Amino acid sequence: MRDQIFRQFIIKIRRLQTFILGIESSCDETAAAVVENGRRVRSNVVAAQLDTHAKYGGVVPELASREHLRAIVPVVRQAMDEAAVDLQQLAAIAVTAGPGLVGSLLVGVTYAKALCFARGIPLISVHHVEGHIHSVLMENPEIRFPALALVVSGGHTHLFQLHEVGSYRLLGKTRDDAAGEAYDKVAKLLGFGYPGGPILDQLARYGNPHAVKFTLSRMKGNELDFSFSGLKTGVLRWTEQHDIKDEIEKRRGLERPTIDALRTASSNATLDLIASFQHTVIEELLRRLVIAADQICAESIIVAGGVASNAGLRERATRETGLTFYFPSPGLATDNAAMIAAAAFPKFERHEFAGFDLKAHAGLMLA
Ligand code: KG4
Ligand code: ZN
Repeated sequence: MRDQIFRQFIIKIRRLQTFILGIESSCDETAAAVVENGRRVRSNVVAAQLDTHAKYGGVVPELASREHLRAIVPVVRQAMDEAAVDLQQLAAIAVTAGPGLVGSLLVGVTYAKALCFARGIPLISVHHVEGHIHSVLMENPEIRFPALALVVSGGHTHLFQLHEVGSYRLLGKTRDDAAGEAYDKVAKLLGFGYPGGPILDQLARYGNPHAVKFTLSRMKGNELDFSFSGLKTGVLRWTEQHDIKDEIEKRRGLERPTIDALRTASSNATLDLIASFQHTVIEELLRRLVIAADQICAESIIVAGGVASNAGLRERATRETGLTFYFPSPGLATDNAAMIAAAAFPKFERHEFAGFDLKAHAGLMLA
């Protein structure tokens, strides 16, 4: 009798626990994570390919696919081990179907399909950008709607209105480079290595943000669209007018390019340039957020994606706008699979499953 009650109790608990395995391979990170009930991160494993791409100053698609193929099995295995969950306990497997590099996406999608097919587990397709938005929603159940979501990374600078979870309206997007891409390109130009965002962010505090005046972009048509190519050209013009060739070579030649070593290898003028560049990027982002928040009477502002880690942005956001901001925790801002598993949970509840004909879509749209 006691045994029977105990067994029923275990069955009940298992029903209350919905474990979803998330798999993400859209760019240069192979990631797997197990998330319980859409919120509790049981494991979050990310295998980055920084060393592979660093010498090229950006992601090389063919190399990325090859690295995903190498990493996918051990990364998934590690995520399951760390979560102490076995395949039979999984309610579903969620995978990023797009957007991203098609060869990279294919590795995750094919592996997720095979695992689901072999184990008879439902498959859930997740949009990468929706994943980023859930990296913030999953940790902040108090977020009030309507909300604005700014997804700002190496591939995206997209601004959405969220009427509720799962309902997105695109308000504006970049017409050229994404903000993270601008960071990466400027860092490459100045000899700072890849990825440029975290490096320039850390160095920005040593310079004067008002030293170099860049022109802010003006968008004809939709004032909520973004553009960073003018700023990038502004940095290029500055380098042409200043003799910094030697310091660029010095930085490129550093054996161990730590922040301290990079700072020592940079003139005050370069540090001022970096601080001014960062100041301008943040200005561009905050200006649009203020206009959009006013237009839709936003109660909350979600900022997600790699650039959401930016210290300068976090520092200035609420102070300068008075709006209520939500940022992801460290480990959830850049690409990861916990956000994919979290985004899949509402779809799981709605039984929104994908078929085995699911395809990887390089240019998948969210709204
Ligand atoms: O979200 P993510 O990992 O990948 C994409 O979906 O693109 O974002 C990576 C991007 C890179 O461009 C990187 O330079 C940028 O985010 N990033 C940052 C910071 N940390 C990462 N940009 C500015 N400040 C940072 N602290
Ligand atoms: Zn991303």
